[in-house]
Amino acid sequence: MARKKIIAGNWKMNMTPSEAVSLVETLKPLVVNDEVDVVFCVPAIDIIPATEAAKGTNINIGAENMYFEEKGAYTGEISPLMLKDAGVKYVIIGHSERREYFAETDETVNKKVLKAFEHGLTPIICCGESLTQREQGITIDWIRQQIKIAFLNVTADQAKTAVIAYEPIWAIGTGKVATTEQAEEVCAAIRVCIGEIYDQATAEAIRIQYGGSVSASSAPELFAQPNIDGGLVGGASLKPDFGKIVNYK
Ligand code: 13P
Repeated sequence: MARKKIIAGNWKMNMTPSEAVSLVETLKPLVVNDEVDVVFCVPAIDIIPATEAAKGTNINIGAENMYFEEKGAYTGEISPLMLKDAGVKYVIIGHSERREYFAETDETVNKKVLKAFEHGLTPIICCGESLTQREQGITIDWIRQQIKIAFLNVTADQAKTAVIAYEPIWAIGTGKVATTEQAEEVCAAIRVCIGEIYDQATAEAIRIQYGGSVSASSAPELFAQPNIDGGLVGGASLKPDFGKIVNYK
């Protein structure tokens, strides 16, 4: 069965609650496309108003992060139970900005992935290499390590429903999109790695996105690659351009 594309916006730390409502209002007629899953991952405080504004549309509201405990003395954190109760289905885990600025590691990513599955949330698991790693020729080794740790103790049935976002760090917010060949090469290697951890059926089911300076002009070629099942979009997800990305064909 062909994998359904999944195109997600990552709003990062942008949009106040009232701005979030107007952005959803602006984008909702533009992102209509039943052939793809459309997700807006928004700041935690925007989840409820954005969900309200997106009611009756094809837009899924997702989260950008989550903690790996249900509740307790973890000031400032958001729990999977809170996300579930707010109607969230997708949650980004281990974005490179969280790894860089908030000390997330492959191990905390794994804990969050397990916790997300435990509560019926679909993780969008991020991986990606730095420019130095790419220049040193260790991209695939690095990504394989990130993937293997992220999926520790995740069952095949869970893994089949997961989303992986391959985001080369040097391509994020830089306008420097990876070439189609670079993006496809790594996404294909991720699928091979999933096949090694699990089996062919899991490798074929899992959805792998590309992220990093995706735009209306780069999306069509990227999303046409056999191993790229959509995108995780930062800057362009805050603009009407996102409608063109969702309707890339
Ligand atoms: P940009 O699309 O702004 O490069 O951001 C990509 C990203 O980090 C999405 O998670």
